[in-house]
Amino acid sequence: KQALQVAIDGPASAGKSTVAKLVAKRFGYIYVDTGAMYRAVTYWAMQHDVDLTDETAVIAAMKTLKISFKPGEPDQLVFANQEDITSAIRQPDVTNNVSTIAALPQVRTILTDQQREMATAGGIVMDGRDIGTTVLPNAEVKIFLVASAAERAKRRYAENIKKGIDTPLDQLQAEIELRDHKDSTRKVSPLTQAADATLVDTTPMSIDEVVAAIAEIITKKQ
Ligand code: C5P
Repeated sequence: KQALQVAIDGPASAGKSTVAKLVAKRFGYIYVDTGAMYRAVTYWAMQHDVDLTDETAVIAAMKTLKISFKPGEPDQLVFANQEDITSAIRQPDVTNNVSTIAALPQVRTILTDQQREMATAGGIVMDGRDIGTTVLPNAEVKIFLVASAAERAKRRYAENIKKGIDTPLDQLQAEIELRDHKDSTRKVSPLTQAADATLVDTTPMSIDEVVAAIAEIITKKQ
């Protein structure tokens, strides 16, 4: 069996990381959460009081940042150098600023290179916004995961409550829609479905159903 590259893209809170993690586990693949990398850069820039729209300053700050992942349950652990930033990068301040950082072309080039490096050997599930279109255009499996904005806000709300973050549901939905708008309209690698990606609408589906549907697609390609 071939060790494939699996790209999972889609809007905010469509369930990409939950599903990607389970799919990776099922096939013994590595899982890479590229959103966590954009979040790590955002966190780092904010910690260093960098103006997030100043590309030169953000790039300079990135020079002292090494992002790494370690296995963890339920969430994979994310590190900025030696610092565990797993929960810090999910806080609303980072979430609401990340699209600004993600629109900077040089930031994207640096992170895209790192992501391609991680994927060279195959056997990888990578989730994000531009994996199928830009990072891994030759990925054997490409999934575009969507769900209605109301459903996504509901799921994120339930997740947040478990983490002790209490943002009202309607505010969450507005923030999700704003982030999708920024991610879809930026100039470099906007969020868009690759021509050869399979669209999966998870609005009426359970996590297990989504994982099963993707696993079937992978198995056919192996
Ligand atoms: O997936 P997650 O919601 O954690 O991603 C956070 C943000 O990082 C997205 O809203 C987007 O601005 C950016 N991102 C990106 N390209 C990726 C992954 C994430 O621009 N491949």
